[in-house]
Amino acid sequence: SLVHPLSIAIDGPSGSGKSSVSKAVARSLGLAYLDTGAMYRAATLWVMGRGIALDDQVAVARAVKDMPLVQVLDPVSPGVELDGIDVADAIRSADVTTNVSKVATNLDVRGELRARQRAIIDQERATGGFSAGRGIVAEGRDITTVVAPDADVRILLTASEEARLARRSLEVNGTANKEAVDSMRDQVVRRDRDDSTVTQFTVAADGVVTLDSSDLDFDQTVAAALRIVAKHAPAR
Ligand code: DC
Repeated sequence: SLVHPLSIAIDGPSGSGKSSVSKAVARSLGLAYLDTGAMYRAATLWVMGRGIALDDQVAVARAVKDMPLVQVLDPVSPGVELDGIDVADAIRSADVTTNVSKVATNLDVRGELRARQRAIIDQERATGGFSAGRGIVAEGRDITTVVAPDADVRILLTASEEARLARRSLEVNGTANKEAVDSMRDQVVRRDRDDSTVTQFTVAADGVVTLDSSDLDFDQTVAAALRIVAKHAPAR
């Protein structure tokens, strides 16, 4: 390919707007989009569907190694299929959301999914793949640090706890009034705490650019992310 493939890694906590911002950046630049959180969610759904106890580390890791997961990397309509079945909605169920930390903290599961993530990123950087070698935006919790520390552009998308709670509440409850926000607080704080036992996504690692979206709306956040990409990406 004549164009240098572009790789962008975006990490951040839940409610930072990471997924929608990453998708918009990928759309705007014609890149593939990889949602790594969806892989941990799919693994959870897969293991639960097979009746495996989530605290049976060995059985869980074995099942995930054989998981027939296919992701569609189109940022306009990203897809997640397990064994040929569309599970995009099922992986967002309350059941999966409640249990995903148990699977995401299994280190053998992480090893397996990181290897798959790495292979997808390499494929999009080579000629071929969904983007035909133009490149990829990959988002999650450990992409800037562990999965793709060599990405051309690395961004940590942050937002204050209050901003993240308000966004989550708007998404889940349709309102961000005080009671609704308070009802989300325990769940969100617990999930951040569980997630941060295996991934470090609250402080930017060396060379990672922090983008704080607390006081920005969606369009402003996407514009800021694209400015960071323009400034840090190698000439293409
Ligand atoms: O971003 P999300 O809410 O869809 O992530 C689902 C879960 O997977 C969450 O508990 C964090 C975890 N995760 C992870 O440990 N590492 C990643 N790269 C992405 C997500």
